[in-house]
Amino acid sequence: MTRYFLGITGASGHPYAESLLKALVACGHDVDIAITEAAAKVMRHELGIDPGDHGEKLAAHLPTWLGEGPAKRVRVFTSGAVEAPPSSGTSLTGGVILCPCSMGTMARVSVGFSSNLVERAADVALKEGKKLLIVPRETPLSIVHLENMLRLARLGAIVLPAMPGFYHRPKTREDLVHHVVGKILDRLGVENSVGARWKGLAEPPGDEGIGRPAPEVPE
Ligand SMILES: Cc1cc2nc3c(=O)[nH]c(=O)nc-3n(C[C@H](O)[C@H](O)[C@H](O)COP(=O)(O)O)c2cc1C
Repeated sequence: MTRYFLGITGASGHPYAESLLKALVACGHDVDIAITEAAAKVMRHELGIDPGDHGEKLAAHLPTWLGEGPAKRVRVFTSGAVEAPPSSGTSLTGGVILCPCSMGTMARVSVGFSSNLVERAADVALKEGKKLLIVPRETPLSIVHLENMLRLARLGAIVLPAMPGFYHRPKTREDLVHHVVGKILDRLGVENSVGARWKGLAEPPGDEGIGRPAPEVPE
C-alpha cells in the first residue's frame, strides 16, 4: 500500500481525476487530495458536485464515489492548507499527480512558484526527487505551454497529456477516460487493468476494448 497525492486544478477533465481516485483506492492505495480554487468551479460544472470553494466539502462526497470504507483511505486538504503533510519533504509519497493540470498550475510548478497546496506538493516532489506526474489539458498549445512542459520534463516530471487514443475503439466516455487513467497508473507503477491493452492487429476480435470487431462496411 502506497500513499499518493492527487492535485486537481481548474483545467477541464475532472472525470479523469474522479476515475483515477477510484482506481488508486480500488488498487489498495491511500490518497491525499487537494483542489485549487479554480478546480472547485470546474468540478461543480463537470462533475455536478459542490466541493466548497477551497475543497472543504469534497470529503463529504467521497463515500458516494468510493463507498464508506474505502473513502476512509482518502485525506482531503483545502487548497490553502500549506501546513498539511504533503507540503513537507518529510512526508512519504509514492508520487504526486496533477490531474487534470491547468496551464496556470503547470507554469507555476515549472518555475517553483507555490501559491497553494497543489503547487507546493508538486514542488516538493521535484525537490525530493519523487515521482511527479502532470496531466495537462489544453488545446491548442502556445509556445509558453510547450516550453513549460519541456522544462518540467527536463526536471524529471512525467508529462502525460489527457489525450485518449482511439485504437481501442472506445464506445463510451468511460472507455476514453480509462485509456488515460490506465496510462497514468502504468507510469506510477500501479498494477492495473483499467485501460484496454493493445494486443496487435492480428488479435481475434472481442466484445470489449482493444480487439473489438471492426464496424461492418456496407458492400
Ligand atoms: C469550465 C472551465 C474549463 C477550463 N478548462 C481549462 C483547461 O482545459 N485548461 C486550462 O489550462 N485552463 C482551463 N480553464 C481555466 C483555468 O481554470 C484558469 O486558468 C485557472 O486560473 C487555473 O487555476 P489553477 O491552475 O489554480 O487551477 C478552465 C476554466 C473553466 C471555468
